[in-house]
Amino acid sequence: MSVREDLRDALADERRVPRPPEPAAMVIFGASGDLTARKLVPALYDLAAARRLPMGFAVVGVSRTKMSHEQFRERLRGSLERHRPQNFSEEVWESFSRSLFYLPGDSRRPETYEELRDFLKRLDAERGTGGNRIFYLASSPSLFAPTVGRLGEAGLSREEDGSYVRLVVEKPFGRDLESARRLNADLLRHFREDQIYRIDHYLGKETVQNILALRFANGIFEPVWNQHYVDHVQITVAEDIGIEGRGAFYEEAGALRDIVQNHMMQLLCLTAMEPPVAFDAEPVRDEKVKVLSAVRPLPEERVEEVAVRGQYGRGWIWGEEVRGYREEEGVSPDSTTETYAALKLYIDNWRWAGVPFYVRTGKRLPKKVTEIAIRFKPTPHTPFARAAGTEPNVLVIRIQPEEGVSLRIGAKIPGAGFEVGSVNMDLLYGTAFLEEVPEAYQRLLLDLMLGDATLFIRADEAEAAWSILDPVLRAWSEAGDVPAYPAGSWGPAEAEELLRRDGRRWRRP
Ligand code: BG6
Repeated sequence: MSVREDLRDALADERRVPRPPEPAAMVIFGASGDLTARKLVPALYDLAAARRLPMGFAVVGVSRTKMSHEQFRERLRGSLERHRPQNFSEEVWESFSRSLFYLPGDSRRPETYEELRDFLKRLDAERGTGGNRIFYLASSPSLFAPTVGRLGEAGLSREEDGSYVRLVVEKPFGRDLESARRLNADLLRHFREDQIYRIDHYLGKETVQNILALRFANGIFEPVWNQHYVDHVQITVAEDIGIEGRGAFYEEAGALRDIVQNHMMQLLCLTAMEPPVAFDAEPVRDEKVKVLSAVRPLPEERVEEVAVRGQYGRGWIWGEEVRGYREEEGVSPDSTTETYAALKLYIDNWRWAGVPFYVRTGKRLPKKVTEIAIRFKPTPHTPFARAAGTEPNVLVIRIQPEEGVSLRIGAKIPGAGFEVGSVNMDLLYGTAFLEEVPEAYQRLLLDLMLGDATLFIRADEAEAAWSILDPVLRAWSEAGDVPAYPAGSWGPAEAEELLRRDGRRWRRP
């Protein structure tokens, strides 16, 4: 092997196995909640199993529930064993669990932070956490600002002696533009923007990142990725599940806040943005903000022309009868919260002028599927008499499940004559790379420890996404009843109408 080949392989290895993160202590506020047990700790456990955690590492769970370190560990162990029995190893747990600690305390009271400060100092000495701190807000959103205020007052947001302090904020990031601005201002009173990591777990998904690889690592898509060739784009985030015992949360949120403002706006940005000069935090986020700022404002007084909402009633999912939304626990019997939302958006810039982006999401739809479909314009003329069944080309980026990319093309149907039909050219992500796709939180927590904010949301980005949706939120809060759709259907009839008016149809993914 030549020196050059050696070097190339060494560089490739380095790219695949990034530098290990510096030692750190991660403090999780709201640690007795679901997110810690179902997402954060399993992701940290997987990182430990893959030897990606730093040597000096500790998690400190904080919440009001009274628990000892040992009880906290047992609880997390139970959850890991229950949810992923096939991935549980006694040996990994044995060493990982030694880095888990728990501190009962009310995040609104200053004493909690004094105790926390002392405890973190002790961990620096005993576990080698090196003075680096990550504060993770996984509590109820109403506690975000008070917690940050107390951290600031206790001096815990200050970076000293070359160590870092980072703040992680879970969604929902505000509930409209005004509250998001207020929250940003509250955070920025005590932390610098480059210390703040706002999480949208969609950005941790491999297939979401693959949108950028597909677009910017291939020469053939870029020339046709614009209004000259694209007829329209459909983005779908469909779920077959209902609200899964989260009635109280969902009543306050609804589909627009829960999925459209964050996950769908991110998918829109990655599909529509210009190539960033580098795959680094600021250039990538600058380009995303440009897309969001170019979205044509939705007219509040004519919202029904561009937005549809719906709420699931009783119906059937996978052969099982399920309750309607208003019968779910914690939901008001006359609730007007939407469990389905569809919007038609235009991005007023050179690349996308006149191309509609139809986005839709819903609970209790027939199946779980997230995809982006780029529908190209038809050929100007077809010389084949029997091509009636063919559709224009569609490039489908399948985010989940059956992750992959599929291009629908016209092809000759075998036999005499010249009949043309539509077929799929498929790339299946799972079989193309013989590697297990890591969970979204694994990637995000590792990036966080490495200080790479590329896959996190910047303050202006969150605000720009709210600006788009604010008129719809206002109009819907005043409008009367919500159209119903039966569970197990593809949403209310009004959503079909939204596209039919434009001479188009939703895809059946
Ligand atoms: C969360 C929403 O952000 O995303 C949930 O709060 C939703 O309501 C979930 O079910 C969907 O995530 P995923 O990764 O299953 O597509």
